[in-house]
Amino acid sequence: MSEKRIIRIGLLGFGVVGQGVWKNIENNRQALEFRLGAQLQITEVVVRDMRKAREVAVPEAAYSEDPSRVVDNPDIDIVCELMGGTGLALDLTRRALRQGKIVVTANKALICEHGEELFALARQNGGHYFYEASVAGGIPIIKTIREALVANRFKLIFGILNGTSNYILTRMEREGLSFDSTLGDARKLGYVEADEALDLDGIDAAHKAVILAYLAHGKWVKLDAIICEGIREITGEDIEIAGQLGYKIKLLAVIVRDFEANELSVRLHPALISKKEIIAGVDEVYNGVSVTGDVVGTTVLIGRGAGQDATSSSVISDIADAVFMLQGAPAPVISEEDEAVYKQLADGLVLAPKDQLVGRYYLRIHVKDEQGVLAKISEILAKQHISFATVNQKELEDGTAKLMVTTHKTNETAIRSVKAALSAENSVIGLPFSIRIFDPLQ
Ligand code: NAP
Ligand code: HSE
Repeated sequence: MSEKRIIRIGLLGFGVVGQGVWKNIENNRQALEFRLGAQLQITEVVVRDMRKAREVAVPEAAYSEDPSRVVDNPDIDIVCELMGGTGLALDLTRRALRQGKIVVTANKALICEHGEELFALARQNGGHYFYEASVAGGIPIIKTIREALVANRFKLIFGILNGTSNYILTRMEREGLSFDSTLGDARKLGYVEADEALDLDGIDAAHKAVILAYLAHGKWVKLDAIICEGIREITGEDIEIAGQLGYKIKLLAVIVRDFEANELSVRLHPALISKKEIIAGVDEVYNGVSVTGDVVGTTVLIGRGAGQDATSSSVISDIADAVFMLQGAPAPVISEEDEAVYKQLADGLVLAPKDQLVGRYYLRIHVKDEQGVLAKISEILAKQHISFATVNQKELEDGTAKLMVTTHKTNETAIRSVKAALSAENSVIGLPFSIRIFDPLQ
């Protein structure tokens, strides 16, 4: 019997995900090596601060604060960038790819900002850049779109791509907890980014939406060209009223391709979504992605979107692809020649302007509880040709009231004008808050 080839892996970063990769390779080593036909050895682990206490003890000889022991080491077959950020991580990824190395990453921020350059570097130098863990944690969404659904053109991809915010919204809904009190728990569970604004302001999920849009449509979309809003302003009242109206509030990524107009729309924002939709039932740290292809119809994938084990499952899946490649299997990624064909997907494709978005809206307006307020509000809405679909009022002890209304179909520009006009009214306190209502059939 021939000896199995030894595959040497270097980990850049040994935090939540890095330690998960180590633990899960150890836990399933026998089955994994049998399936891969190779031996896996993590021979280098690089951290920022070696004095930090860790769950996993790394042999001294393999442990350092020196990234060049991974990136510039000819013995390393697979570089795993699990440190995050777009500074040092970018330099190290560039360095590794320029040497034709295989890099596996979970770093969606880096791909979103520099993916075009990094994928090109990988192709030009004969290396590869794998990124399954960068979108939707343990859900194999990259492989699904790239390989399993390759027969399709994608009219609509939407879903929940951030585990932290879904966890927070779920606990706010179920337990009536405040935003801040659940954030600490999400942190302890290893869901939250080192820079937590990425999760709370929608940026992390927008990074993932940009990656999916590229994968499905061959076009890199700039983050500042799309709607990107987080969950910080959602209150328990919003969730309660939405529930009474038959909706849940979810932070949704929405990627729509209009093939006739050759237009792509990518957006990320909280939305009211009917409880009848499968995605509305995706709670806690779970992510859910609904993919509608012209051949397959609609396929929904649901799984843990963050956390150590789910994420390391995806990293190890990429390591497995890399191992097969190192043993001669064709690369499951786009080659230099395929790139031209792939780019045709995006030929002439333009990004739909943000303001063109049409839909229904939920508005929360804080008002002085006095005569004629509702009439005034409906007058302001009517000026923008917006009509009420529902109106709910909650009286507060201080003599003010919250009005929660939903509208019939309108557009972004009209809603923005309405909010500005309302906030200029004497009887309106502060700035009205709006949430889009998402209907996948619209
Ligand atoms: P983490 O727990 O903060 O771990 C980051 C690791 O990188 C730490 O070991 C840290 O070293 C090391 N590191 C950071 N900066 C470094 C530097 N300048 N030099 C050397 N080492 C450095 O983060 P994580 O949650 O594992 O996330 C890692 C990556 O996976 C990120 O890109 C994140 O977005 C992505 N991701 C995370 C999840 C999740 O659920 N956590 C899910 C999907 C994707 P020290 O420990 O010494 O500080
Ligand atoms: N912070 C991210 C989330 C980790 O909560 O979804 C997974 O990408």
